[in-house]
Formats: sequence, C-alpha cells, structure tokens
Amino acid sequence: MIKKPKLDSIREDFPLLDQKTYLDNAATSLSPKPVLNTFVEYNEKYRANIGRGVHHLSKMASHKYRQAHRKVANFIGAQEDEIIFLKNTTEAVNIVSRGLEWEKNDHVIVSKMEHHSNLLPWIRLEKEKEINLEFVDIRKDGSIDIEELENKVDKNTKLVSISHASNVLGTINQIQKVGEICDKIGTYFLVDAAQTISHSPIDVKEINCDFLCFSGHKALAPTGTGALYVKNKIQGELAPLVVGGGMVEDVSLQDFSVKEGYDTYEAGTPNIGGGIAFGEAVDYLSDIGMKKIENHITELKDYLVRELIEISDIEVLYPNSKRIGVIPFHNRNVSSHKVAALLDQEDIILRSGEHCSQPLLKKLGYNGLLRASLLFYNSKEDIDNLIRAIRKY
Ligand SMILES: Cc1ncc(COP(=O)(O)O)c(C=O)c1O
Repeated sequence: MIKKPKLDSIREDFPLLDQKTYLDNAATSLSPKPVLNTFVEYNEKYRANIGRGVHHLSKMASHKYRQAHRKVANFIGAQEDEIIFLKNTTEAVNIVSRGLEWEKNDHVIVSKMEHHSNLLPWIRLEKEKEINLEFVDIRKDGSIDIEELENKVDKNTKLVSISHASNVLGTINQIQKVGEICDKIGTYFLVDAAQTISHSPIDVKEINCDFLCFSGHKALAPTGTGALYVKNKIQGELAPLVVGGGMVEDVSLQDFSVKEGYDTYEAGTPNIGGGIAFGEAVDYLSDIGMKKIENHITELKDYLVRELIEISDIEVLYPNSKRIGVIPFHNRNVSSHKVAALLDQEDIILRSGEHCSQPLLKKLGYNGLLRASLLFYNSKEDIDNLIRAIRKY
C-alpha cells in the first residue's frame, strides 16, 4: 500500500527543517526524502543514457524518464507529449522567445511585475527584431490591470506573457481572464507559473494558455529541473532552441528530420535523474492534495501578515490582497540585507534585496525588500520564530 504523506508528520521528510526556519521557498523549495531517494536510486541502480541503445538499463531509465513526463503532464492537466523537460523557468521563456517566428512590429505584452526571466528575453527581442513591447501596469491591489490589458490587446498582438503570481508581492493575477482575452483575438498566451506550481492546483485547459512554464526546483524536485507546456496544436510553430543527438528521425550530411512531441526540444543528454525525481516530486504533492496545500499555506500567510502588521517599524506591502504564501515587507529603519543577515544568525532563512525584479522595485520606490515565502511544510512555529526575531531589530 502506498503511504500517503500527511501534513502533520510531513516535516520528518525534510531534515533541514529540524535545524532551520526555512522561509525562502520562493527562491527554491526543499526536496523530501522520497524525491532524494528516487534521484539516488537512478544513479545507484539503473544509471544509463536514455533513448539510445537496447540494453536493459537504458530501457529502464528511458521508461522512467517518459513516465516522469506523464506525471508532470497529469499534474497540470496536459498530455505527455505537451511537456518539455528543461533546466528552469528562465530556459522555458527563452525557448518561446527564440522559437517563435518574429517580424518587425509584432506586438508583445508583459506586465510591470515580471521577474527578470520573463522580461529580458522580450527586451532582447525588442532590440534584435524590433518587436513592439508594451507593459501592463499594476492595480491598487498589487495584481495586473486586466482592463488595461484588454484595451492593449489587438489583432497585432502576437503574444501575452504574464506571471500567475508575483514573486515579489505574492499577489495572484486573473490569468483565466487573460486566457479569455487572448483566445478571443487568437494571441499566444504564456503563463509563468514559477510561483504558483507548488501553491495551488493548476489546469492548463482551464487557463486556456498556449504555453505554461515552471521550475521543478520550486516544487520539491532537484535543482536543474523545470517544464514547459506547449499546447499540442501549436508545436509546429515553435522551433527548437537546441539541435543535436536524441531528437532526430533521420540525418544526412545535408539535412535532418526530427522526432515528434517533446523529443524535438530535448536534444542532448538531459538531467535524467533529476527528471525522474521531478516525477516523484509531483506525485508527492498530488498525494497530499494541492487544494489541501493551498488551504494550509493560506492560513499560515494570513497569520504571518496579522503578526507582521502589529510591529510598528514594519510595513507589509498589499496586506489585504489575494496572494500566495509570499509576503513582502520592510523595516522602515534598517536595510533589507541587514535584517536578513541578522535573521540568518538565528538560522532564520529568508530573502532580501531586489528579487530579480528591479523594474518593479524601482516603480514601487524601494531599494530592497524582505520576503518571507511559505510552503506546505512550514508551521506556525516557523512564523513565531520569525516574528520573535524581527521584534528585536
Ligand atoms: C515568477 C518567476 N519567474 C521566473 C523565475 C526564474 O526561475 P528560475 O531561476 O528557476 O529559472 C522565478 C524565480 O524566482 C520566478 O519567481
């Protein structure tokens, strides 16, 4: 019988939580023991390259790697051949920006809250291909302005690329509404789900997006893992970024033809053990249940916001907004890096600074912010530790 992880005993699977108050989950999550064991098992018991050769180790590794694609696909309501494994969210956005065909004045819309990874690829495209790049602003509740977006999208808009939730503010965007707007015009829609993948249930069909990307390492998988969903019917419109071994059907000295499905986009030897462990990570999340995870994180973040706003020198940004477990705040008298370094001395781990979102920080008028980011394995005690320490500085 499969042992289902329970939320109250879950911390045993994350030994680091015994020693540290880990509140930097938006940067990367911890991996539970079953995920680590899966990674080690590949290396100890059936390490081999995939899709090459006929020996039993290669067959076993190939089977497990394909199975992992299927698991990740199921996790977001996609089909196996719609999921490309890659390094991280950054690589995914670059694949889309490099793989679609662009012409001068093609219209692309992103928001002012994007992580650099969903910003730089489009800025580069603006410089290189002279696309017309526009930015949607943020409303008073810290989410993107949907009315502005709706007014900006027109028949020249080739792509809209928006984060599901802000990595700085934690605020959640109405991406289903964005999906409807894009669908009406026939615009490509890319969702950066880096922050929501381990927070809430996600279904690409409900969102009605063409592309959706996330980093496995923010969802319990090893670093160096991530996924890009590419809707089946548009796969022919996305050229692979990298070509070479593993993706070919036939090669001559003049030309080559490529395999169908995700193989087209995964040339070269991938992160095989990491990919297989990625499959185990989404199984682990599914076994707990994403709705249960969302409820737990929501309760915890409400508690953290309530406690933080009681501290006189602390300002919490958008305290009443709908958000994931990402809470930005700052001490009016002490820099964010200084507070984070002081907390670090007490083994309280959280992020400070610009959070790879310099345009957003500049717009909001901060040099740096503190960010506590929660996952389902965090507890009320973690928050009490943080609050107790913050009250000292
Ligand atoms: C919203 C968002 N997009 C993209 C990224 C980039 O992720 P990675 O560094 O795994 O490529 C992050 C990382 O924090 C993020 O939060």
